[in-house]
Amino acid sequence: MLRNPWFETIAEAQRRAERRLPSTVYGALVAGSERGRTMDENTEAFARLGFAPRVVGHHAQRSLDTTVLGVPTSLPVLISPTGVQAVHPEGEVAVARAAASRGVVMGLSSFASKPVEEVAATGADLFFQLYWSGTRASMVQRMDRARSAGAKALIVTLDWSFSNGRDWGSPAIPERLDLRTALRFVPDVLPRPAWLWKYLRSGRLPDLTTPNLAASGSHAPTFFGAYGEWMQTSPPTWKDVAWLRKEWGGPFLLKGVARVDDAKRAVDAGVSALSVSNHGGNNLDTTPATIRMLPFVAAAVGDQVEVLMDGGVRRGGDVAKALALGARAVLIGRAYLWGLAANGQAGVENVLDILRGGLDSAVLGLGHSSVHDLSPEDLVIPPDFPLALGAAARVPVVQP
Ligand SMILES: Cc1cc2nc3c(=O)[nH]c(=O)nc-3n(C[C@H](O)[C@H](O)[C@H](O)COP(=O)(O)O)c2cc1C
Repeated sequence: MLRNPWFETIAEAQRRAERRLPSTVYGALVAGSERGRTMDENTEAFARLGFAPRVVGHHAQRSLDTTVLGVPTSLPVLISPTGVQAVHPEGEVAVARAAASRGVVMGLSSFASKPVEEVAATGADLFFQLYWSGTRASMVQRMDRARSAGAKALIVTLDWSFSNGRDWGSPAIPERLDLRTALRFVPDVLPRPAWLWKYLRSGRLPDLTTPNLAASGSHAPTFFGAYGEWMQTSPPTWKDVAWLRKEWGGPFLLKGVARVDDAKRAVDAGVSALSVSNHGGNNLDTTPATIRMLPFVAAAVGDQVEVLMDGGVRRGGDVAKALALGARAVLIGRAYLWGLAANGQAGVENVLDILRGGLDSAVLGLGHSSVHDLSPEDLVIPPDFPLALGAAARVPVVQP
């Protein structure tokens, strides 16, 4: 038993998550795909950017707050939607309580383990995330349900490519966790008594279903049942995106944009915001780090829609770098999942506090009084760093 559950960096939260979680659950959070190149580059790219600090004239008071899609947030950091299964018995409810207590917005995945109504009851500001999956009627029903529960925006994630296989191996996740199946996982779970104890105390096993994808009056599909529906759905066109946008009616965030031409098409389809994202390196491996693609996307459409980014954010300084390169805010994925695994709601709060402290320190050292003052001038940017995908600035093709 750890005497002090507080941790000082996200790296330490990850170490604790690895120690506490059964290896299958930990492996599902690490995720990644193929070589894991994109996943690693997302974090490494932040380390390639430097700061250009100022020495005198620092501000005693600094403000870190902003708004995202009209919703005030105390920090330019949002909880990114993740299909969290079996990390913690309270799952997304614990994350939402942490988001509410720290005044940040939470994106709730349609693959989440808790019903949107239960998550909304925490009082957190919620954005509901949807994939293009199922029939139009089922998508409308899911949106209606999220809207009635109080979701303030829709996040539509469109970058998933169903890649399969990781060089380091994928965890074996069961379709359903009944007692018989649970017994198969005993060797994986027994060495993790703290995790097991949390579930035993909660009185149930992880249920591995997706309650927000249930048709009204029917059972929640299993995680793999939902995944199957998604795989069999014909991928959307830009017209479909415009339809979805219209059906939702309210603020609409398209998550997963990498290319400048796609960003412009997204604006034409009527989105209100987009997130430059490669799904945390979980799908098309060797897609470049998102922070490298951000500046060109922000320059192309940042005056028309809100531009966010996600992928690889592990420090408050990373948040400052993303804002300096044109993001209005960032979304975090694994960082809060490590916190949740390490210490439940308090662990997620701990993660948000680490990011707040690091961002405040960067704003102080760079001589600003607000996150809105951050600019590329605050950074040391290697000449080959920014990448424009799908725009005029292309890498020349060498003819043989
Ligand atoms: C375990 C895991 C599950 C995820 N599930 C979803 C999901 O259900 N919906 C979604 O839009 N993105 C999902 N993502 C992607 C995250 O929202 C986000 O884009 C990514 O984690 C950002 O990278 P980071 O983990 O380096 O912060 C998931 C990511 C992870 C690691």
